[in-house]
Parts: sequence; structure tokens; C-alpha cells
Amino acid sequence: MDDVIGRWREVNLANWNERVPIHLAGSFYDLPGFRKKRNVLREFEVAEIGEVAGRSLVHLQCHFGQDTLSWAAHGARVSGLDFSGPAVEAARGLAAELGVEAEFVQADAYEAVTAFEGRTFDIVYTGFGALTWLPDLPRWARVVSDLLKPGGFLYLSEFHPFTEILDDETGTTITHDYFDEGAKVWDEPGTYADRGAETRNNVAVFWEHTLGSVVSAIAGAGLRVEFLHEHENTIFPRYHDLEAGTDGLYRRPEGAPRIPMMYSIRASKA
Ligand SMILES: C[S@@+](CC[C@H](N)C(=O)[O-])C[C@H]1O[C@@H](n2cnc3c(N)ncnc32)[C@H](O)[C@@H]1O
Repeated sequence: MDDVIGRWREVNLANWNERVPIHLAGSFYDLPGFRKKRNVLREFEVAEIGEVAGRSLVHLQCHFGQDTLSWAAHGARVSGLDFSGPAVEAARGLAAELGVEAEFVQADAYEAVTAFEGRTFDIVYTGFGALTWLPDLPRWARVVSDLLKPGGFLYLSEFHPFTEILDDETGTTITHDYFDEGAKVWDEPGTYADRGAETRNNVAVFWEHTLGSVVSAIAGAGLRVEFLHEHENTIFPRYHDLEAGTDGLYRRPEGAPRIPMMYSIRASKA
């Protein structure tokens, strides 16, 4: 187990590389729909980030670029970074196919400053299943700060760590330790996008960071937190009783006690 944790980057890279073609082909990411709509961003993200037109935006851990290219559709000049070669290749292919000007680089998130050769950006965007792959949040936040121009900002939208302490089925019983931020290992075939997919590289190492750790890392890197919003809905049916709203987000049924399922943060550089 310790050996696997020590090899987290290699293990996770193999896991992600294998899942890229599955995600490209499956219904979860709905590529045919994206080709038509060209926007998968959630309404609250577009509202909270503010005007992006004409601004440079770098998306860390961009997967195959759907969110990145969506920001381009809103007028941003976009760059994406991911450590997965197949993801970056697919992102470049998608951008070319759609005729969108976008840059995608293959690099570890911690190496982003070098990967972009010291260039800085107006906006750093990241989220929805990104931070869980990074062991060291203060180091990540320093990278974010170094990528930002003075006056630029980080916009982060993520799954709320509260959801990780509840049972997966009903989301009503506390089953996991909120404060355990140590490395965790899973070994499961398939992917969240296709549970039944046949896969060989099934081990992954991940970390469940508390909200306090995320905010403290951002503040510790010298960024000023403008807001931390907690949302009562989420982007997929996380628990069995969640109901889809007209906004495409899933929430608890009317009258059921609400819990935070996503959060978003905007934090600026002086
Ligand atoms: C769930 S996706 C997040 C992107 C977006 N929310 C989505 O769902 O398409 C996680 C991405 O993080 C990337 N990733 C994981 N660890 C990384 C690391 N250390 N450096 C760079 N990218 C990494 C994976 O390759 C994957 O594309």
C-alpha cells in the first residue's frame, strides 16, 4: 500500500490515461451534445466568475478540455493543462475540430509555472474533481498565485468535502472521517462516467481535503478570498434521492434537510 502511495503520480496517470477514451466515447461527457452546445459550464460559475471576454484564462487539470473550451465560447483566451497525454491530445483535437483557438499543455499541475514558461494569466480556473488528486494544497496554491497576473484571480468550483463523509447510497449517515486528509487508495474497475467499463489500471491514490485546508492554502499563498459559496446542489445524482432541477443540477427533495454539495471560491491577487 505504501508503495502505491509513493508512486501516486505514476499510478494516477495510468488510471487517467486509460479513462480518457472511455470518457470521449461515453454518454457522461456527451461529446456530440458538446459539439452543438459548446458550453458545459454551470450557470452559477458563469455568473460568479464575472466577465471573461478578452481575458486570459488557464484551466488546471483540464481533462480533455470541455470546460476550457466552454470558457473560450464565453470569450476567454484559454489555455489548459493536464498531466494526461491522451487528455491533452483529445483537447487539442476537439479545439481544432470546433475551430476554437486554445492552447493545451501536458504537465503536472505542480509544474504549471515551468510548463507555461513563466507566463501569467488573468484567471486561473479549476475544479470538479481536481483537488482530490493533489496531495499538497499549499504547494498547489503557490502555483496558482505564481500563474496569476497582479489583479488576477482564482476561480475554483469543487465538490463539497461534506459529501465525502456521508454514505454513498443515501447520503444520510456519517460513515467517513472528515478530518482524515491522508492518502487514500481505491482499486475499482470502470469510471464515474461509465461504471461498467472494462479497465486494467484501476488503482488510484487520492486525498480528501477539508474546506478549511483549501481556504487556508489559498489565503496562505497570499490570495484574498472574495467569497466562499456553499451550494445545496451538485452536478450529478450523488445520492439516490437527489432530483434534477431545471438548471440541470441535482438537489434534495423538497422538505428534506439540505446539505452543502458543492462550493465555489474566488480569490484575487493584489
Ligand atoms: C475529473 S477531471 C477534472 C476536470 C473536469 N472537472 C472534468 O470533469 O472534466 C481530473 C483531471 O485531473 C487530471 N490530473 C490528475 N492529477 C493531476 C496532476 N497531478 N497534474 C495534472 N493533472 C492531473 C486528470 O488527468 C484529469 O484529467
